[in-house]
Amino acid sequence: MSEQRVSTGVEGLDKVIEGGFPSGSLILIAGNPGTGKTIFSARFLYHGAVSNDESGVYVNFSENRETFYVNMKPFGFDFERLERDGKFRYLEMLAVKDATAPSIMNMILEEISGIKAKRLVIDSFSTIAQAFEKPHDVRILIQTVLERIVRKFGCTTLMIVEVPFGSVRAGLSMEEFVADGFMLFRAGRLEGRLFRDISIRKMRGTVVSEDEIGFTIDGGFKAFSPFEEKPIKKRGKFQPLPDPPGKFSTGSEELDRLFDGGYLRGSTVLLEIGKNISTQQYHLVLSPTPWNFLGKGAGVMVLPSPGVDYNMVWRRAVESGQPEESLKRLLRICIFRYLTVRREPYILELEGRDMDEDLRKYHESIQEMIEKTSKPPLQIIGVDSLIAQYSVEDAIKILNRVTTAIRESRGLGIFLLKPGRPEVSDMLNAVVDVHMKMIREHGALLLYGLKPRTSLHFVEMDVSRGYPLPLITPVL
Ligand SMILES: Nc1ncnc2c1ncn2[C@@H]1O[C@H](COP(=O)(O)OP(=O)(O)O)[C@@H](O)[C@H]1O
Ligand SMILES: [Mg+2]
Repeated sequence: MSEQRVSTGVEGLDKVIEGGFPSGSLILIAGNPGTGKTIFSARFLYHGAVSNDESGVYVNFSENRETFYVNMKPFGFDFERLERDGKFRYLEMLAVKDATAPSIMNMILEEISGIKAKRLVIDSFSTIAQAFEKPHDVRILIQTVLERIVRKFGCTTLMIVEVPFGSVRAGLSMEEFVADGFMLFRAGRLEGRLFRDISIRKMRGTVVSEDEIGFTIDGGFKAFSPFEEKPIKKRGKFQPLPDPPGKFSTGSEELDRLFDGGYLRGSTVLLEIGKNISTQQYHLVLSPTPWNFLGKGAGVMVLPSPGVDYNMVWRRAVESGQPEESLKRLLRICIFRYLTVRREPYILELEGRDMDEDLRKYHESIQEMIEKTSKPPLQIIGVDSLIAQYSVEDAIKILNRVTTAIRESRGLGIFLLKPGRPEVSDMLNAVVDVHMKMIREHGALLLYGLKPRTSLHFVEMDVSRGYPLPLITPVL
């Protein structure tokens, strides 16, 4: 990193562009209406003033000051205060038609030198460009902005370009070449839901580690660089959450919020895993629930997915901080007999030949758990293991029966489905009460509900309590 950087105010974006925009650069922010250009630019200025002590000027050609201030307030941007503190100026230029390029320039320059601004936003360049007849004038304007503002004052400048709906190109030609950076903001669909992303097309002197990055305007703009596992410095004992009336807490406050307090008693949940998602990653969403059961002295029965051996399930359970003695009492892990294992008290061996015989043994063990704890247990079943052992039809039959038993005992079931079986996903969708899916996009981890339907949510790892929990942010 040779050049000074100006933080964009968006951590996830800074991460993929070497810490921020090159200092004193001109960046084009293009996109259709409603894609988040104004909110992003507001954040850039707000963050600069509050965290970096850099004053900023917002030049707006289409929105009056009052509207802007009111619109930005819900995102936590108090521009009135910044203005009082002399760190911000809003230049309202609604009557641009009558102004000439030099007069516009002079007005902007005056504001900039007035507060020694280091950051400038022009919203939007398209509005000024329309006011001029010849493309030649537009070029002159950009050149002047570049030479007299950006370079002379070292003022990092965002120039917003409105792209009309339906336009194939950004409507740009030489602007792209003159500018130091070019980012396209998009609002598209992913899995039938709103997904927002930035495509970084150009950033001078910068190694762009990820040229597409998802974001949300929730909380005043947050971008999501590829999912990162966070190290846990000091392990803590899992703190169980109370169960709301008629429900089981998921063990995570964030997930509970998504499901209106938790999973209904007697219900079953299908957690479908998309491509390129590691065990560690989906465990982020899965693990808090068994931890919550164990932490409250309830039983947990696990039939692991292929590739997850009983040792791993055991280790995961130990990570919750529960003493091993209590785990031996509360946890049961199913394995098929031909797998050679040490005989541990928490292992339930199944034959893997006769489905009815296995189910009988399985239910017996569940019954034992209920008697021992006086609580209905959580049952976690790797659907792919059932399919591998029996057949698709038998696997569905088993899951149907388990679902009925869970409903009767008012317990909870979580079925895990790995990628590559869309037909099984469809069949199970009809069986379960809740259907969630995890996917990856631009390296970030996302979760959404098919049943009940939810918007997309970014998933990050929170280790602030000494154990991994999901941090969930909706795409808005
Ligand atoms: N005050 C607000 N509260 C909630 N949503 C808002 C608010 N202001 C804007 N939005 C939404 O945020 C999205 C991006 O807005 P904006 O940054 O103004 O887009 P652009 O400047 O690209 O047209 C839009 O979908 C808009 O509906
Ligand atoms: Mg706008």
